[in-house]
Amino acid sequence: MRNQFTRVAFLPLLVLALSSLSGCVDEKVVYRDRALFEQPPSAAQSFLGYSDQGSKLVVCGNCHVEKQAMWEQTKHANAWADLQASGHATSSCEPCHTVNANGNWVTGDAGWVATQDTRYQDVQCEACHGPGLDHVTNPTVETEPLAPLSVGVDLTTGCGECHQGTHNPFVEEWSQSAHAVLSDHMATNASCQPCHTGDGALTAWGENDNYLEKADVANGDHLPITCGVCHDPHGGPNAHQLRYPISSANVDSNLCMKCHQRRSVPDPTSSRGPHSPQGPTLLGTAGWWPPGLTGKLVGTHGTPSANPELCARCHVSRFEVTDPATGDFTFQATGHVFSAIPCLDADGKPTTGDCDVSQRSFQACTGSGCHGSEDVARAAMATVLARRDLLVGEIDALLAQVPSTEFSTTDDRYTVAEGSQFNRDLAAMDGEPIHNPFLVEALLIASIDALKTTYHLTAQTNVSLKPMFKAPASSN
Ligand code: HEC
Ligand code: HEC
Ligand code: HEC
Ligand code: HEC
Ligand code: HEC
Ligand code: HEC
Ligand code: HEC
Ligand code: HEC
Repeated sequence: MRNQFTRVAFLPLLVLALSSLSGCVDEKVVYRDRALFEQPPSAAQSFLGYSDQGSKLVVCGNCHVEKQAMWEQTKHANAWADLQASGHATSSCEPCHTVNANGNWVTGDAGWVATQDTRYQDVQCEACHGPGLDHVTNPTVETEPLAPLSVGVDLTTGCGECHQGTHNPFVEEWSQSAHAVLSDHMATNASCQPCHTGDGALTAWGENDNYLEKADVANGDHLPITCGVCHDPHGGPNAHQLRYPISSANVDSNLCMKCHQRRSVPDPTSSRGPHSPQGPTLLGTAGWWPPGLTGKLVGTHGTPSANPELCARCHVSRFEVTDPATGDFTFQATGHVFSAIPCLDADGKPTTGDCDVSQRSFQACTGSGCHGSEDVARAAMATVLARRDLLVGEIDALLAQVPSTEFSTTDDRYTVAEGSQFNRDLAAMDGEPIHNPFLVEALLIASIDALKTTYHLTAQTNVSLKPMFKAPASSN
């Protein structure tokens, strides 16, 4: 993975080079004797900043041309201009809009904060990678300035050092989410790591694994699903620097579904139930499909033309919290607790705690004219869950009549009882009836019919088996 910077034939010259660029070569151009950087002020703590501020060429970008090309398109490259244009700029704003100790291993005054030298404006490479003087004067493996992938509310490195506070509480919200949790069992089992650890995901996706914590990871100290797992720090083609699109209706290319799709259909060799089936449920293909159920059952929630951001529309939803008395801004919710209907604390901030459904925010459902009001959405959910509960009640009563041999894990049969159990467990998972009411209802009804026919059973409750939810006609 060395193809992103121009390959070099400059080592003999480097000793002489120091502050002039003698080294960067690509197939066509050889630059010689152009100043790579001016000696940085001593108070800067070896940060180099821009090579040519006018063209947004960072010192690092002279050699790492591919990263330069990506980065200069990002909002990080415009952080200073946007700060000034806001009309509210004060010196207290600057540490998050410039190169300094924020985001990297350096502490104390450095870069912009120490010097107010304009070469340090914007969130450049060194904001994350740390000071580059040693590496640039001697670019070897030993001097590589590696950036942290870890993040946390108390860490003095990483994205969270800037992405925090009442306007940008990304790290505060993320820290409460399940993505911030690393479970020992899943982290030590190689087959779980591609989804349950951040480092495992990057490896599975074929992404770079040269970051500050790589030695710790090699020693078994794994990372949770941090900012840099979902976001490409350098930018890219997707909105908000996401590594993969959120709009894709393909489980293997949608950012969320790449992980949220472990076992959505039965594995006949295993008695295990569904495991993170959310992607395939949303897209209408999850579950055990008894004979007679065919095609694909998708609702509005899983149709990109109606809901372009799919999972993220509901689970990564930004909203502003205002003071109920004055209407003044108090807090920006970023959606990074990843809960579709989060509980709100006394100040109106989303939390991942538990609370009654009446206390949950349904704001994610009301944007873009999706549902008329929070109460309308809340009522729609109650209807879907009540229907699910009745059908699950019928399945449970039927399954209780089925001989236990039908659930044997040692025979090599996958029975109607086992398939029905799978569908019942899927329907019982939080969120699944909301992700796709049509599919979940159809799976439960088909399972009930199959159980009755196969095992000669009669209805155990008086639940209606007439479909209550009809998928849009375009579904099949
Ligand atoms: C003079 C050219 C040059 C400049 C300027 C330069 N680098 Fe490098 N960089 C290299 C070379 C050459 C390597 C590969 C070293 C090796 O593996 O032997 C490298 C490697 C790296 C790596 C590891 C690459 C990988 O594929 O894992 C990182 C990270 C890095 N540089 C960051 C930076 C940052 C940040 C800056 C700016 C402070 C910077 N570089 C400036 C030439 C340069
Ligand atoms: C030195 C402070 C700083 C650090 C460190 C930092 N950021 Fe930022 N980030 C900013 C600022 C400031 C902006 C807004 C720039 C603007 O809009 O003018 C921003 C913008 C962004 C955006 C663009 C949002 C959009 O709407 O497109 C993303 C994504 C982002 N940062 C992710 C990250 C990630 C991931 C990391 C860590 C790998 C990180 N940032 C580290 C300060 C920082
Ligand atoms: C703790 C770090 C931090 C401080 C301090 C900070 N910002 Fe930011 N700022 C950020 C981050 C992170 C973003 C990107 C947020 C996002 O994309 O959602 C940002 C984004 C912005 C943007 C771009 C937002 C947009 O809508 O495009 C403006 C303008 C801005 N900040 C102005 C300010 C002003 C004015 C101050 C001082 C009063 C300030 N910032 C102080 C971290 C900070
Ligand atoms: C917002 C933080 C951030 C910024 C800004 C940033 N990087 Fe990185 N960089 C990282 C992180 C985190 C990694 C490790 C994970 C990854 O590669 O995605 C990394 C990895 C790298 C690597 C390793 C090899 C590779 O292929 O990914 C190189 C080289 C690199 N960065 C160079 C640069 C250069 C040059 C710039 C500026 C043009 C820059 N970075 C800007 C955070 C950042
Ligand atoms: C293809 C990705 C993927 C793989 C591989 C994977 N999981 Fe998961 N797993 C997930 C996702 C996503 C969730 C969260 C969604 C959910 O709970 O339905 C999850 C949830 C879980 C939960 C429930 C978590 C909780 O807090 O209740 C357990 C337990 C679990 N996985 C165990 C494992 C074990 C053990 C392995 C390895 C043998 C494994 N997983 C492999 C994606 C995966
Ligand atoms: C599980 C994946 C995931 C993780 C982990 C994650 N994000 Fe995001 N982030 C997203 C998605 C998806 C969006 C876009 C939401 C949308 O467009 O509706 C987003 C949006 C953003 C934005 C732009 C928000 C805006 O509206 O301006 C910033 C900035 C950002 N994230 C920073 C962070 C930071 C910092 C962290 C770590 C504390 C982080 N993200 C962790 C998925 C993630
Ligand atoms: C790298 C894999 C991965 C990616 C990418 C990912 N997730 Fe997750 N997600 C997980 C795992 C693993 C868990 C369960 C963690 C646990 O409970 O131990 C989880 C948990 C969750 C939960 C909470 C489950 C609970 O029990 O509280 C939600 C909601 C969620 N993810 C939504 C999303 C959304 C939305 C996206 C895309 C923006 C996304 N995830 C991207 C792996 C991933
Ligand atoms: C239409 C809005 C919507 C969409 C789209 C959506 N979800 Fe959900 N999701 C919900 C609701 C509502 C819940 C139920 C939350 C509860 O019961 O607390 C939920 C629950 C979940 C849960 C169980 C943990 C939790 O937070 O309760 C996970 C995991 C999850 N969703 C992941 C995903 C993934 C991954 C996608 C995309 C494949 C997705 N969701 C798409 C609304 C949505």
